[in-house]
Amino acid sequence: MNNEDIGKIKGKVNFRQNLKLLLPYLLREWKLFGIGLLAMVLVSVAKLIDPLILAHIIDVSVPQADTADMLHYAGLFVGVVLLSGFLTWAQIVLLSRLGLRIITELKGRVFKHLMKVPVSFFDQRPVGDLIARVENDSERIRTLFSDLSVRLIGNILFFIGIVIVLGLRSKAMAWGFMVPLTVLSISFGFFFRYIVKFYRQVRERYSQVTSLLTEYIQGMPIVQIFNKQSDVRAKLDKASASKRDLETRTGFLEYGVQGFFIFVVNTALLGLVIVMLAPKIIDGTYTIGSLIVFTQYIMRITWPLIQLLENFMQMQRSFVSMTRIQELLDLPEEDYHTGENVQPEFKQEIEFRHVWFAYEAEKWILRDVSFKVQRGSQIALVGPSGSGKTTTISLLCGFYPIQKGEILIDGIDIKRLNLKEWRQKIGLILQDIFLFPGNVLENVRIYNDQISPEAVKRSLEAVQAKKFAEPEQMEKELSERGQNISQGERQLLSFARAMVYDPELVIMDEATSSIDSVTEARIQKSMETLLAGKTAMIIAHRLSSVLKADNILYMEDGRIIASGRHEQLIKICPAYQHLVKLQFPGGTDE
Ligand SMILES: Nc1ncnc2c1ncn2[C@@H]1O[C@H](COP(=O)(O)OP(=O)(O)OP(=O)(O)O)[C@@H](O)[C@H]1O
Ligand SMILES: [Mg+2]
Repeated sequence: MNNEDIGKIKGKVNFRQNLKLLLPYLLREWKLFGIGLLAMVLVSVAKLIDPLILAHIIDVSVPQADTADMLHYAGLFVGVVLLSGFLTWAQIVLLSRLGLRIITELKGRVFKHLMKVPVSFFDQRPVGDLIARVENDSERIRTLFSDLSVRLIGNILFFIGIVIVLGLRSKAMAWGFMVPLTVLSISFGFFFRYIVKFYRQVRERYSQVTSLLTEYIQGMPIVQIFNKQSDVRAKLDKASASKRDLETRTGFLEYGVQGFFIFVVNTALLGLVIVMLAPKIIDGTYTIGSLIVFTQYIMRITWPLIQLLENFMQMQRSFVSMTRIQELLDLPEEDYHTGENVQPEFKQEIEFRHVWFAYEAEKWILRDVSFKVQRGSQIALVGPSGSGKTTTISLLCGFYPIQKGEILIDGIDIKRLNLKEWRQKIGLILQDIFLFPGNVLENVRIYNDQISPEAVKRSLEAVQAKKFAEPEQMEKELSERGQNISQGERQLLSFARAMVYDPELVIMDEATSSIDSVTEARIQKSMETLLAGKTAMIIAHRLSSVLKADNILYMEDGRIIASGRHEQLIKICPAYQHLVKLQFPGGTDE
């Protein structure tokens, strides 16, 4: 799978695959499922029995004026009704517990899988869509377990039971039931095939709405400062309206068909029974009790059948959701073992040899990039925005496969390395610093309990972030995305993070936003502590960070156009010279 089609996920509902997704969970929870199923069978049996008891009272006890027999059966009737009530409750409780368990596991599994997917996938997927799939779609699957399966299986059982009891009482009646229902069911089969398309579209539009919402909420300060509330609102309204219209159309279809069905089953079948039975009751072949049994059954089956129909439709929706989740699970994992899974060793040097790279076919972002990084040396990447600096380090981390050339670590192609192991050697500090939900301590050691709070404290102090090194400060919760601490402080935290992990190679993409000179001096100092004795590759926007670098690579438009130490580069590269003049109008000694 290449970079382009990895972001596109769209497939057809595949029932067999859906079943394969669910079966393992059902098998694992077989006890809950089994007891729930048993309760379901018993409920169906109870519902079949009570009209028969009623019929006995009317046909036998009443004509014979046998009060004792009548009381006996009346008691039985109450008992059966109570029992079926209790079992219904038990079945709901058990199966919703089953649903909850399964869904929690499934969500965990989806997220776990997402963490193994290559980063290039996330470049192209709206966050909202993924959230909609992981959260909302999985909730839909839950209803499939908790009530749908219950009602569906319960209703099917009940239906079969009715046909059997009717068949025992009168074969003609049973046929009178079966034939129209079979015809109806087949026509609904076709209808379901048709409507599932709509369900899929509804889900997609839901995803679009969530994506817009997530993005606008994240960008709220910008929305407000530019007074774009009404435009944003209009865009959201448009997306919501398109979802609403589709839902309305789908609902119209669904409920129209359902209404027709209710009419057919309820009215037509009841009419049929009366027309067929009335003459036989008059001539004495059938009793009034039989009529009661039949009409009771019809009334009882109408509801289940309607529910069944609704269940089927909801099941279609669940299947759509399941397919959307399956698509996530089907995303190929990042292959840590491309080829030979060689254990990485970084004792000598990293080499980029004639590297060509494009995110999208043929739109070259890096063109023939070659350079070497000796172990223990510090390399700086400098150049205008969009020249490919961040891209270069992403490639070194193995986030994307390159199209031409080689990236060699001690002479071994990065493609042949075990990427997981390779990344463990790297301390990556990104332009856009990501803070995890949690406190300062957790953020520096990134949930790794093997790193002691003392070590975290030491590294915080070393990188000049003494403010956070106090115990109560380390326990301080950071808000989501670390919005409650400043840009400079975030940078210091990210230094502490790299420091505490003590990586063999530090890769740093300096934040572009400007920082006041006091903080800059602090960051400068803490960077020096962090990098002392380490191999480092630094993308520098502030030239103060690169003056001492062993080698500076000047990039422009995806190429390295010049390289050397600061003193050399300033002589041979006019673009660099220009940059230096801009940043140090009074010379570099200041
Ligand atoms: N995920 C991506 N998909 C497609 N194109 C991308 C992606 N990331 C970056 N690009 C493009 O690649 C080019 C180089 O981007 P890169 O982020 O490497 O620049 P940079 O040198 O780090 O710039 P800056 O100094 O602004 O951080 C840009 O034209 C950018 O639009
Ligand atoms: Mg960049």
